[in-house]
Order: sequence, then structure tokens, then C-alpha cells
Amino acid sequence: MRLAAITILGGLMLAGGAHSDELGDRDAGRKLASQCSTCHGRDGYAQIPIAPHIGGEPAEYIRNQLTAFRDGTREHEMMSIVARMLSDEQIADLAAWYSGHKVQVELKQDPSDAPEQCVACHGADGLHVYKDAPNLAGEANIYIDTQLKAFRNGKREHEIMTPIAQTLSDEEIRAIADWYADIGLTIEMVE
Ligand code: HEC
Ligand code: HEC
Repeated sequence: MRLAAITILGGLMLAGGAHSDELGDRDAGRKLASQCSTCHGRDGYAQIPIAPHIGGEPAEYIRNQLTAFRDGTREHEMMSIVARMLSDEQIADLAAWYSGHKVQVELKQDPSDAPEQCVACHGADGLHVYKDAPNLAGEANIYIDTQLKAFRNGKREHEIMTPIAQTLSDEEIRAIADWYADIGLTIEMVE
């Protein structure tokens, strides 16, 4: 069953949406992104496994997370320092830059095997269904694992994700993280 599904779905490409943010200045964001590129790439494709892909994420989500790191409601030894130096305007510009890239995903498994508790918001293909929720496609399994455990133990808080993560065992978290990590992600940089 699994093998047949792979054969049928192999090479299936699904186009993701490109997002732009009217509020931020993409050109200013492109320049600021030089501060981020060692870890997230200039196109938002992560360069290190502990950092997430941020290219093509909804502008709203990027802005919310940068604001949360700056305000201390989300904490991380690297990102808290980076975000503390950013103004509201710079955050909007960075969100406009990174959200504007085009994302494509390649499903390697049968979409009906997708984690059913997650697809309503993160899609079977790992692309966000609405603008507050991030893409999960192609994130390193270690990143997804870490975030779900952070929601579960209260280190990261969110009214929707906290209760969802609290229902998951370590094994379920690992299986879901592997499922989303296995989706191929390509980010096409839009200048
Ligand atoms: C030294 C590496 C490093 C640099 C430089 C860096 N980041 Fe990050 N970033 C990370 C890591 C690691 C995480 C994951 C944090 C966590 O585990 O909570 C992250 C998380 C994020 C997130 C949250 C994404 C999500 O899916 O939740 C955003 C948005 C982000 N970074 C934007 C930026 C921007 C914009 C810059 C430049 C101004 C930047 N980062 C610079 C390492 C870095
Ligand atoms: C009702 C919608 C909804 C459902 C269902 C849902 N999520 Fe989420 N998820 C969100 C939202 C909204 C966020 C952004 C949280 C924030 O702003 O911190 C999020 C964030 C995340 C993140 C953090 C990603 C990042 O880039 O930092 C992970 C990982 C995640 N969800 C995994 C899951 C998994 C796994 C499931 C299923 C077990 C699931 N979610 C179900 C809405 C949802």
C-alpha cells in the first residue's frame, strides 16, 4: 500500500501560495535579511537544522513570531537576541520580504496518511491553511519535535497549539515530525 502510494505520488508537485504584505517594504526587508541569512538563508530556506524554513510563511505569522521573541513571550537563545534589535517597521519589512517567496512542496507519501489532527490548519502537504498557522513542510524533524514539546511543557504558549500538543505522546510527536519533515520543500526566491 505504502509503496503503491509512493509510486503514484512520486513527483507530484503542489504549488504553494506566495504571500506579500502591503504593510512592509520588501526592498528594505531584503537588505535586513543579510542579518538572518546565515541561519535562514536569504530566501528563507534554513541553513541549520535547528532553524525553521521561513520563506513563503504568511507575513502575519512571521511578524507575530518576531514580536513574540522581542517581547519575551517566545524565547530562544539566538532569536531573542536577534529580535530585540528590531523595530516594528523592520519586523514588517522582514515579514514582507520572507513571505513573498514562492513555495513548492512534493509529497512523497499518501496524503490520506497525513496526521489527521493537524491537516485542518497545516494541510496534508504541510502548507498553512490560514494565515496564523505556519507551514510545516520540510522542516527538520528535530525542529518540529522541539516546538511540539515546547508547547506541551509550556515553554511556548498558544491557545490552539498548547492543548493539541498536550494530547500527544513522545512517540506520536516523533511520527508526526517525521511525516512533515519527509515532504520535499523548494523555495523560489522572488526579488
Ligand atoms: C544564529 C542563527 C539565527 C539568526 C541569525 C536568525 N535566526 Fe531566526 N531562528 C533561529 C532558530 C534556531 C530558530 C528556532 C527557534 C526556536 O527553536 O524556537 C529561529 C526562528 C525564527 C522564526 C520563527 C519561525 C517559525 O516557524 O516559528 C522567525 C520568524 C525567524 N527566526 C526570523 C528571523 C529573522 C527575520 C532573522 C534576521 C533578522 C533571524 N531569524 C535571524 C536562528 C536564527
Ligand atoms: C486549529 C488549527 C491548528 C491545528 C488543528 C494544529 N495547529 Fe499547529 N499551529 C497552529 C497555529 C495557529 C500555530 C502558530 C502558533 C503560534 O503563533 O505560536 C501553530 C504552530 C505549530 C507549530 C510550530 C511551527 C513553527 O514553525 O514554529 C508546530 C510544530 C505545529 N503547529 C504542529 C502541529 C501538529 C503536529 C498538529 C497536529 C497534531 C497541529 N499543529 C494542529 C494551528 C493549528
